[in-house]
Amino acid sequence: MGNQIELFGEGTARRLKEVLGMFRANRIMLVTGSSSFRLSGAEEIIMEQLSGHESARFTVNTECPQIEFIKKGIELIREFLPDTVIAAGGGNVIDTAKAINFLSAQSNNPEEVIENSARATEKGRPLVAIPTTSGSGSEATHFAVVYSGISKFSLASDAILPDAAIVDPELTYSLTPYQTAVSGIDAFCQAIESIWATGSNEESTNYAEESAALSYNNLLTAVSCPDAESRRNLSRASNLAGKAINISRTTAPHAVSYTMTSVYGIPHGQAVCITLGEFLKYISEVTEDDCNDRRGAEHVRNAVRRILRILNAKDPEEGRGKINALIEDCGLQTTLTGLGINGMKEIEQIALNTNAERLGNNPRKITQDKLLEIMKRVH
Ligand SMILES: [Fe+2]
Repeated sequence: MGNQIELFGEGTARRLKEVLGMFRANRIMLVTGSSSFRLSGAEEIIMEQLSGHESARFTVNTECPQIEFIKKGIELIREFLPDTVIAAGGGNVIDTAKAINFLSAQSNNPEEVIENSARATEKGRPLVAIPTTSGSGSEATHFAVVYSGISKFSLASDAILPDAAIVDPELTYSLTPYQTAVSGIDAFCQAIESIWATGSNEESTNYAEESAALSYNNLLTAVSCPDAESRRNLSRASNLAGKAINISRTTAPHAVSYTMTSVYGIPHGQAVCITLGEFLKYISEVTEDDCNDRRGAEHVRNAVRRILRILNAKDPEEGRGKINALIEDCGLQTTLTGLGINGMKEIEQIALNTNAERLGNNPRKITQDKLLEIMKRVH
């Protein structure tokens, strides 16, 4: 995995110029959210440092960047010919910038690359990622999520990892309680999933454990009465969770979430967290027969014990309760009904639309029937 320049801490966004200097940046393509760019304070800080540079801006105004939308960004990059890309926003903005930058560098057309991104190796322009939420950790991963209709594709390539990440907690100060909750719970889920993922190793587990403890212990404060410390801890948790899943990838709660987002418009973090507690219980009951992890069922049970220690829970049932209490205390929903998804048909569609292949990273095998059972339990 390529090395990344990383700045972390309050005020680091004011050092963007320094980072741009390292890349000898001159012509800059700026990928941002629509209102979040201004509200976060990023606009003022970044634009001031871009004076004297040529720049073009591409605004991302969707939670689910569709391939057609990505293509517009590719067109802009090919017309404007920037030497550097800056992404400032939430996970969807940074993912969009990563996808545009990467896809624009390949000779094959975007649809072909999306089908098999592992074969595309051309590196795009240097990319500087500046998160304005504390959740996705997208600044630290070599993936980018792209949608085609309601289907989700994950681009994955070493060439996608941003070359620099500037994580400035001050940019998250203006997030509303809901935005803080919905992005922070994504970081929490990513860290928990990373601990039990079949792709985990010692390094990813260290990142994930530190991250999960930070988000579990700071999310509620950052939502209900944010202070500098809770904001900082959540920014750190988000970045560490990104580093963790960059190695381990995510698992079942993420896999089932994408249809909830693309069809029902449920924000990503909310869609992911709804099944996390149920999957904790399901995974804790792993046996050698249905274990997906080559390290064996005891390894998976150990991962569950690590999670229970972070939650200070004596067993998986209590762990599930504590996860759901955190979700509710943050003002988020723990049931599909609470999200307005009521009918059995809709629940079946979510289960069926989950690509079984993408569940391969889940430590316990899961059939469509089992998945449906879990979905019914969070109904
Ligand atoms: Fe996520």
